[in-house]
Amino acid sequence: MRTAIYPGTFDPVTKGHVDIIQRAASLFDRIVVAVAENENKRPLFSREERKRLLEETVLDLKNVEVRVFEGLLANYAGKMKAVAVIRGLRAVSDFEYEFQMALMNRKLNPDMETVFLMPSEEYTYINSSIVKEVARLGGEVRCFLPAAAATALMEKLNRGESGVYPG
Ligand code: PNS
Repeated sequence: MRTAIYPGTFDPVTKGHVDIIQRAASLFDRIVVAVAENENKRPLFSREERKRLLEETVLDLKNVEVRVFEGLLANYAGKMKAVAVIRGLRAVSDFEYEFQMALMNRKLNPDMETVFLMPSEEYTYINSSIVKEVARLGGEVRCFLPAAAATALMEKLNRGESGVYPG
């Protein structure tokens, strides 16, 4: 049983994230999607909301489970017996941060490799932050988000829970 962990903020989950989860699920026996609180990004959705949106989205992927985690990813991955951390790589601009994180995680947990997967090219320019900004300014975002996340985002904005999205 080879487990991989796919960590992130997922505020909210995008179709790019789903693309990566599907690719990872075909390579490993078990995928743990691990939702970090990430207070420094001041998420729009609570960690539980982000977890629920992911769960609704990956319902049909039987070897994928969604959990929340606290503290160091390297420790949590060890607890989950993960042999790999999955990260999506979209463009060169992602590389520096991902490289630093991968090497730090290797130092902290030498039993774990970071595996980078590239999403389909149609998702290379999206992330949760830009999608939230487009939605906040009245743009259509259903093409970028799974149905549950698009609905939840619209509802949140309609309730006036928007504000500034820093991360
Ligand atoms: O989706 P994101 O915001 O790019 O994900 C970043 C995340 C959650 C993977 C990263 O912030 C993380 O691993 N946080 C847990 C705390 C930790 O281990 N920090 C040291 C990273 S080397």
